[in-house]
Amino acid sequence: MKTTEAQPIIDRKKKVFESIFEMLPSEDNPSPLVRINRMNDSSGFPLFAKLEWMNPFGSVKDRAAWEMLRELEEKGEISSERGLVEPTSGNTGFSLAMMARTRGYSMRAVVPNKIPLEKKILLKIAGAELDVINDELCPVPGLGDGSINLAKTRAKAERHRYVLPNQYENENNVAAHLKTTGPEIWRQTDGRVTHVFLSLGTCGTVSGVSRYLREKNPDIKIIAVQPTEGHDVPGLRNISQLPATKLFDPSLIDEILEIDFEVAYTRALELCQKEGLSAGPSCGLIFEGARRIVEADKEGLGVMIFPDSIFKYTANMAKHLPFLSENTTPPQ
Ligand SMILES: Cc1ncc(COP(=O)(O)O)c(C=O)c1O
Repeated sequence: MKTTEAQPIIDRKKKVFESIFEMLPSEDNPSPLVRINRMNDSSGFPLFAKLEWMNPFGSVKDRAAWEMLRELEEKGEISSERGLVEPTSGNTGFSLAMMARTRGYSMRAVVPNKIPLEKKILLKIAGAELDVINDELCPVPGLGDGSINLAKTRAKAERHRYVLPNQYENENNVAAHLKTTGPEIWRQTDGRVTHVFLSLGTCGTVSGVSRYLREKNPDIKIIAVQPTEGHDVPGLRNISQLPATKLFDPSLIDEILEIDFEVAYTRALELCQKEGLSAGPSCGLIFEGARRIVEADKEGLGVMIFPDSIFKYTANMAKHLPFLSENTTPPQ
């Protein structure tokens, strides 16, 4: 620890930190669980949202990014001369870029052109260089010119300049949730959780959380909620795209609900206006899946992993809910 004048006041219990890295989530410093009130009137089946946007870089991806980066540091594979290259639909790239730049490494993000403009700008604000590629919204492995292959090609051809964490294949992405998200949920619910609701991108979250919680209680139901085909919910995959992700293991999932992607936007709006939760579109989709299971199962204790907040999606929200961008100021 550095000797500075501020040192005597550093105290994690009082939330006075030495650096932003101490704020990363762990069993002792979990992301919050907040109960759903107006949007769930079932007293037999309370629902709690796990607010991943409260992580220091704003999404569930802080967990995987940190675990992947830490391993590269431990193995001496990253330095001020050799930075990161990573395919990303935004959140992983932002977390990685913020962490990497703070530690003195460069970061190149390979992103599909369809991701929201806000995310591209945020990546640049974080200090990443961008390759914008004509690709599906969530990068698709195996496509010749796709983001994943371009990142792999760069990492191979320019080995001295780049190392590729590759969240789609990296077991540290799963390990992050096995070590943090799963234990946090178990502890925060005193082991009473019966259902976990989440969505699938790389499948790191589902694989790690499911492995941990099923070990504790094999009856816990792991329910994934996915958007219908042709969707534009960043970070998520439709069911047909899932086998392309190496971390996808269907045996770890009890049920996959497919829900009309338009609902993601209306439910996100409701979560903001009725619960005070600044939930992004993937949270809206997850909530809709949970709501349907509450109606069917009637009893339980559900935890929904809410990946990120609404702030990056204002343009997407206005596209789906045009009244949001109408000028409501009355003429003078
Ligand atoms: C907004 C959003 N929701 C959900 C997910 C899914 O998480 P995972 O990649 O762990 O499956 C992601 C991942 O990129 C995401 O960005």
